[in-house]
Parts: sequence; structure tokens; C-alpha cells
Amino acid sequence: MTTQRKIILGIESSCDETAAAVVSGGDTILSSIVASQIAIHRKYGGVVPELASREHLRQIVPVVREALEQAGITLQDLDAVAVTRGPGLVGALLVGITYGKVLAQALGKPLIGVNHLEGHVHAVFLEAHAAKLPPPELPAACLIVSGGHTVIYLVKSDSQNGAAHFSYERLGGTRDDAAGEAYDKVARLLALGYPGGPVMDQLAQHGNPRAIRFGEPKMKGNPYDFSFSGIKTAVLYHLKRHPELQPEIDARKEALASGERGADALRQLASTATLDLIASFQRAVVEDLVARTIAAARQNNVCSILVSGGVAANRELRASFETEARRHNLSVFFPSRALSTDNAAMIAAAGYPRFVAGQHEDATLNAEPNLPLA
Ligand code: KG4
Ligand code: ZN
Repeated sequence: MTTQRKIILGIESSCDETAAAVVSGGDTILSSIVASQIAIHRKYGGVVPELASREHLRQIVPVVREALEQAGITLQDLDAVAVTRGPGLVGALLVGITYGKVLAQALGKPLIGVNHLEGHVHAVFLEAHAAKLPPPELPAACLIVSGGHTVIYLVKSDSQNGAAHFSYERLGGTRDDAAGEAYDKVARLLALGYPGGPVMDQLAQHGNPRAIRFGEPKMKGNPYDFSFSGIKTAVLYHLKRHPELQPEIDARKEALASGERGADALRQLASTATLDLIASFQRAVVEDLVARTIAAARQNNVCSILVSGGVAANRELRASFETEARRHNLSVFFPSRALSTDNAAMIAAAGYPRFVAGQHEDATLNAEPNLPLA
């Protein structure tokens, strides 16, 4: 291998974003294109797997073409193709994998298989590099928190393992719903649109986070595990006990049906009681995420905390992590919104050390919907 910076095309299609990106030297983003399917899944209140696969098929060619164009390169300039092999929706993964396989074969370039969760870890390092900041110090505790995942890993540097610069240990994770899924389900109960997180994040600023007390999930065993299905049910029972909130829910449903999705418009249709409910829900979720991650970080004597995934955009989560990390003398790192949510730059970056180590895939590479990271 020469010292020339190698160029990797990343492809991501594990859920509802079709993404392609060109990354040089494993750390410099030349382009990152994401085609989101939110508009397609919105009316169902969640991702519909069959529709996701069909949309990936429609998008993959133009998305890759645009990624190359924006990077100012051609297919011949690529040194390798890295593709998400799992975890994710099997039909969705297969679109990216099949396309990546054929492309790599046609070009005679190596194919690299990447774990989507490892991509989320790399997103934090890509962000530091883009911001010209030193990389987070390891070992780190990394919370990956999105619509599909809520999991804490211990991330260590691993010079022994040529195929990845990091090694991972799973410290805990959700036993039922992911945190983003809880946001989306509660948003559905309250008629706040899909995805629920961004709107609830905004509306929560206008409510009293201490108005309603949601009990902590009672779980035996691993103190770093999460459970978010209980709080969703608690919101459902709260609404049953407060039928006076139904007319405003109906009004918001009507507004959503007419295409109105702005947080300001929805706020006009939300009573103080609803804003308090949203703020209290958010507080409970954020406190739980922060407390367990900080506890896991301290127990493992880490230097840094990394927070990645769609929910990492939540402003209360960020503020609360900043405060708590400072209190415990830990540094905390978040990617920008574009790198937090699913993207292919993180897949190309995670593929880079595998490429350098010669860990290439052949035509047998297959989708692994439940692929663990550790
Ligand atoms: O990473 P992502 O784009 O897709 C996957 O789930 O893989 O994350 C989307 C999730 C959704 O559940 C959405 O409601 C949530 O992240 N989300 C937020 C915020 N922005 C997105 N949750 C809370 N606060 C936000 N600001
Ligand atoms: Zn993801």
C-alpha cells in the first residue's frame, strides 16, 4: 500500500435512508449524499420494510452518481467499496449489498463489509476531524441512540486487531423499544407527526418537565440496560385518564392530514397540559439515557463519552450530557446532525481500517439483520 490517501465509496441502506459518500484516507469527507424516505413512511407512523426496499432500489443509482459527482471523481478513482452488511432490515440491506458487490466486481476493486453500529462510532471521529479537533481519547463509552438502536459500548483502541482500530464491548442496551422509537410512538399517540423526536424536542421547551412523574423502569440485572416500552404505555394511560385532551389530538390529526407539520403550528394546537406531558416524557427519557451512560462510563474508567444516532440531535440530551460529563470530569462528543443520523460517510470511514488490513469480502457477502457489534 502506498502512502497516497485511499478513496472509499461508502453505501448505506440499512433502514430508511439511501446514502452514498466518498471518503479519503478514512477521515476526510469528499461528499455525503442522503436520500431520506421519511415522506414515504410518514403516513404509516414508522418504517414499512417493503416500501423501504423498493425506494432504496429507486434511489441507489442516482445517489451513488451524485456522491461521485460532488466528490469530483469517477468510479475508476475509487480504491474500494464499503457497504453496510447489518444490522438492519434484510430487504433494505440487500439492495446496498447487491449493488456494492456488483460495482466492486465490475471495477475489480475490493469490497468491504461494515457493521452499521461501528459506522455510528466512526461518525464521532469524522466530526472531530471535520472540526479540526483532536479525536476523542479512548477508552470511551459510546451511546448509540436512534429509532432502531439504544446501546452502550465500551470502545478501546486496538492496535493488535489490524482490521479495525477499535475493539468493542457491549455494556448494555434496550430490552424493548429504542429511545427514538419511544419518541415516535408517543408522538403518534399525541398526533405530533412522524418522526416524533424533532417536534417533541421543540415543544418540550415550552412545557414543565417536572409536571408529571414517570417512574423509572424497574429492571433487575444489568444496570446499563434500558427499557422504554413502559413510558410509552404510561403516556397512553395518562391520555385515557385525561379525555379532555382528545379534542386537541383530533385537531392536530386534522392539521397533519392537511400537510401542516411545523412545530410552531402544532404548538398552537397544544394545551399547557400537553406541553407539560411532552416535557416530562422527554425529561424522563433523557435522564435515563444520561444517568446510565455516565454510570457505565465511570464504572469502566473511560476518558470520553461519545453520543451518536438520530436522538443525539436532542438539545436537552446534549445539554444534560454536557453538564453531567463536566461534573464527572469526562469529555463528551456528539457528531453534527448530518453525521448523527444514518449516512454513508460513517460507513466508508469504518470500512477504511478493514480495507487497509486487507479484510475484503467476496461474492458470498450477505445481509445480517441482527449482526452484533460485540
Ligand atoms: O438515526 P436515525 O436518523 O435513524 C435510525 O433510527 O436509524 O434516527 C431517527 C430517530 C427517530 O426515532 C427520531 O424521532 C429521532 O431519531 N430523533 C430525535 C430527534 N431528532 C431525531 N429524537 C429526539 N430529539 C430529536 N431532536
Ligand atoms: Zn443508524
